Amino acid sequence: MEKNLDEKFIVTGGTPLKGEVSIGGAKNAVLKLMAAAILTKGETLIHNVPDLTDVEIMLNVIQDLGTKTHYDKEHKNIRIDATDITSVTAKYELVSKMRASFIILGALVSRCKEAIVALPGGCAIGERRVDFHIKGLEALGADIKIENGYVHAKATKLTGAEVYLDIPSVGATENIMLAAILAEGETRIQNAAREPEIIDLANFLNAMGAEVSGAGTSDIIINGVTQDKLHPIEYTTIPDRIEAGTFMTAVVATRGKAVIKNIFPAHLTFFNNKLLKMGANIKLIEPTAIEVSAKGRLNTVNFVTQPYPGFPTDLQSMAMVLLSTANGVGIITESLYENRFMQVPDLRRMGADIHQDRNHAIIKGVKKLTSAAVSASDLRAGASLVVAALMAEGTSEINNLYHIDRGYENFEYKLKALGGKIERINTSQIVEGGYNEARI
Ligand code: EPU
Repeated sequence: MEKNLDEKFIVTGGTPLKGEVSIGGAKNAVLKLMAAAILTKGETLIHNVPDLTDVEIMLNVIQDLGTKTHYDKEHKNIRIDATDITSVTAKYELVSKMRASFIILGALVSRCKEAIVALPGGCAIGERRVDFHIKGLEALGADIKIENGYVHAKATKLTGAEVYLDIPSVGATENIMLAAILAEGETRIQNAAREPEIIDLANFLNAMGAEVSGAGTSDIIINGVTQDKLHPIEYTTIPDRIEAGTFMTAVVATRGKAVIKNIFPAHLTFFNNKLLKMGANIKLIEPTAIEVSAKGRLNTVNFVTQPYPGFPTDLQSMAMVLLSTANGVGIITESLYENRFMQVPDLRRMGADIHQDRNHAIIKGVKKLTSAAVSASDLRAGASLVVAALMAEGTSEINNLYHIDRGYENFEYKLKALGGKIERINTSQIVEGGYNEARI
């Protein structure tokens, strides 16, 4: 789980990706399901869990609370026995490693009526405040103090309430939903986030005995239940739509042809439409599989990132890579985060012509990108640089892989299986005259 600063990808571009790739479970769903599992006593079993650093961090968070867990990576499942919760603290050392662990706040307040959770602070892509999470919990009756960098939430009793979110925040919707599960009476979240991961969490909670309706719309209603109504369950996580979109981009970028399996195509409707407008072909071949291909130079498109069902911010950097060699000028407006164009300086170093003005990027398509040494600055920016390197002429190196390992399972193996020329090397193993083939 420690950051490995010595690893890098060596990527030689120009090979069209071909074959088929299977998409794993959704990172941004499974992390929340793991937190939700602490609401009930007994052993919950979650299937389709991707092998990611972020999953390990969340495991540490819930183990620290006294739960017993077993992570079977081979069969991609996690068992969480939350019969005994012996601590209500999520330490800074863990929360600072992964913001998503802040989701434990709502789950702990629900189950234990108390939580002491480190404030996550900002991150590379933006300020990422948690004020809506806190206001929502206060509306349910929690008394919240912020002291020494920690949120200390306490409630003698939680009571259902109406909560209106200024922005349909994914994390705030989830935290409030979790807190409301064991509250007394009805909670209504208005302007709630509508992401598929929210529906997955609601389905998980309902299977457990909770009463959540309206997930997937802007109006979610939770009827609080008593602890004895909840029971452990066996549940399968939805596929990762962002991983799917990343592989679709890689296939289109290299003008390849591949089948992307184990996906829910409806979760990618907006993204698919933009790819089609760019000139890619997308064919539904099974309810959970599509064939993607592209030939020739792509067309440009404009888009604004928006909460679901709009264009996903997590695929903005991927689309930028495609626009970097498209025929004409494309404009991207990033509306969710203050600083999510972290890939731009490195794409420019690969020959892209991108002008950035605050949250707008104007991308003038060039004929080709060329290789360069670049660095992943965050998860999605990092993955987009790998895609850019697969498309570029020559051999690139991508540093700071720990960002990519947070959210992409077996990334290089899956790309290699499609014919991509990518190797993970450890710089401490570089031999004279070239890179040592050995993967550590
Ligand atoms: N915001 C506030 N106050 C709040 C909450 C959010 O101002 O109390 C703002 C944020 O600063 C941000 C915007 O609202 O500008 C949207 O944030 P949101 O809360 O919706 O995002 P999140 O829950 O922190 C999740 C995903 C992100 C994804 C966003 C948007 C997880 C673990 N993370 O973050 O995924 O970009 O929703 O779809 O679910 C990623 O996977 O790479 C990633 C960053």
